[in-house]
Amino acid sequence: MIDLIFLTLVLLCVYLYVCSKVPLATRVIERFLSAELRRDIKLPPGPAQWPIVGNLLQLGQLPHRVLASLCDKYGPLVYLRLGSVDAITTNDPDIIREILLQQDDVFASRPRTLAAVHLAYGCGDVALAPLGPKWKRMRRICMEHLLTTKRLESFMKHRADEAQNLVHDVWCQSQKEDAINMREVLGAFSMNNVTRMLLGKQYFGAESAGKQEAMEFMHITHQLFWLLGLIYLGDYLPFWRWFDPYGCEKKMREVEKRVDDFHSRIIEEHQKRKGNKGQQYEGEMDFVDILLSLPGEDGKEHLDDQDIKALVQDMIAAATDTSAVTNEWAMAEVIKHPNVLKKIQEELDSVVGRDRMVSEHDLAHLNYLRCVVRETFRMHPAGPFLIPHESIRATKINGYHIPAKTRVFINTHGLGRNTKIWDNIDEFKPERHLPAKTGTRVEISHGADFKILPFSAGKRKCPGAPLGVTLVLMALARLFHSFDWSPPDGMRPEEIDTEEVYGMTMPKAKPLLAVARPRIATHLYQ
Ligand code: HEM
Repeated sequence: MIDLIFLTLVLLCVYLYVCSKVPLATRVIERFLSAELRRDIKLPPGPAQWPIVGNLLQLGQLPHRVLASLCDKYGPLVYLRLGSVDAITTNDPDIIREILLQQDDVFASRPRTLAAVHLAYGCGDVALAPLGPKWKRMRRICMEHLLTTKRLESFMKHRADEAQNLVHDVWCQSQKEDAINMREVLGAFSMNNVTRMLLGKQYFGAESAGKQEAMEFMHITHQLFWLLGLIYLGDYLPFWRWFDPYGCEKKMREVEKRVDDFHSRIIEEHQKRKGNKGQQYEGEMDFVDILLSLPGEDGKEHLDDQDIKALVQDMIAAATDTSAVTNEWAMAEVIKHPNVLKKIQEELDSVVGRDRMVSEHDLAHLNYLRCVVRETFRMHPAGPFLIPHESIRATKINGYHIPAKTRVFINTHGLGRNTKIWDNIDEFKPERHLPAKTGTRVEISHGADFKILPFSAGKRKCPGAPLGVTLVLMALARLFHSFDWSPPDGMRPEEIDTEEVYGMTMPKAKPLLAVARPRIATHLYQ
């Protein structure tokens, strides 16, 4: 389909060039003048550009791989022209440090893409908002009221329940001895954890909110993820919006309306519940309750509904898919490498034993499992790029001119496979992350060396990293402790495929199927 888009695009460009009489001459003059102007300005190196579309046609179906190969060819910092947009890309730790730390003030903004405008309340959220007082206020609400250590601790019991539901679900399915669709069980685990914390309800399992509501919720969140991950040509070629041949903007507006209706219902339910209960006990408040209890701007009694909706949506989008995708990749790599599974289980048996379930308190002591998660992030970061950053003013990197409003694609997939910093890049080898000094805890987010960057750094770094790490470690620890794992009958471990699909997150192309065999006492699964 992308090929078709591109073919149409090329034909359209030719058409525009040939059919319009005046613009052709104007464009030639413009290009000449801009070349003259740019003679003094040294942009970073990069591939040659086509008229109008620039380098857009070169991105292909797996842009992270294409952009990494451009870094191999042109150097650690590459300039691209994407339609009317200046862009740079890098997979190099030193350049990334320069962008995210040394020049954080310049690069911590976000582009106003059409998806962000339609699907994130006019960029009024945290993740897609440009740098400014609104983003600062929304981010502060996240950090001070929602994602504090105390608040996260208060949800520990819910997380333990969901971990038990996960194990119980897999145990029930394992009785049939068929292969289990791991995407489904891991997706339900992440979604239930997030919606319990955010909205106070489960969407899957025994106490779920109801099939109809769960299906609707899943459907709109999938559509939302898909649209947010799309490279929409209208963001780069303004004329594309006149045609919008695939109806993307129409789809965005439809999803915007459905998501908004869904959020309005959630707020209404919470307000009604609050009215019935009077003052709520702190310990039983979910995120929506907390947001409803906060004062608004300029002396207003409450936050605007729109701010609450934008925050809730951000949390759902940022927390669910990222942890589910990471868990599925980790499971795939571990089942593909039985020697790694054996080492994980030896560690679990020694730290936890086989007479009880893993608890969150154990996670800090599972150093080998922590290396497995780091290695998973190296090879399969949740998203192929960080969320695009944008420069707020012109600046220089390594002596090269970077114009204002340059879009920045930090290639985390390319960073983990950069041969200048990693050996045997295609080998899944958790041991490479073991610290030189035994007894030191393995850190899962980036280190000072910027060799992996699962949660980014600087002003825009992920505020949910501690929760994300817990969700990932907990699911994996429970699943590897409670079950032995193998590929479906007739498939050898090394045949498990690791093909990926591009999007805002980067899941395995095909869902992982695996066979589970219980390995601890039966009563522990109940
Ligand atoms: C394994 C799980 C997770 C991974 C790998 C992950 C990774 C990331 C990454 C790479 C970014 C982009 C940073 C940048 O553009 O520089 C990000 C942003 C963000 N994440 Fe996470 N995340 C995870 C879980 C969570 C959770 C659980 C939450 C909240 C409940 C969350 C909330 C956010 C928010 C609000 C942003 C936007 C920050 C901003 O733009 O200021 N994330 N995350």
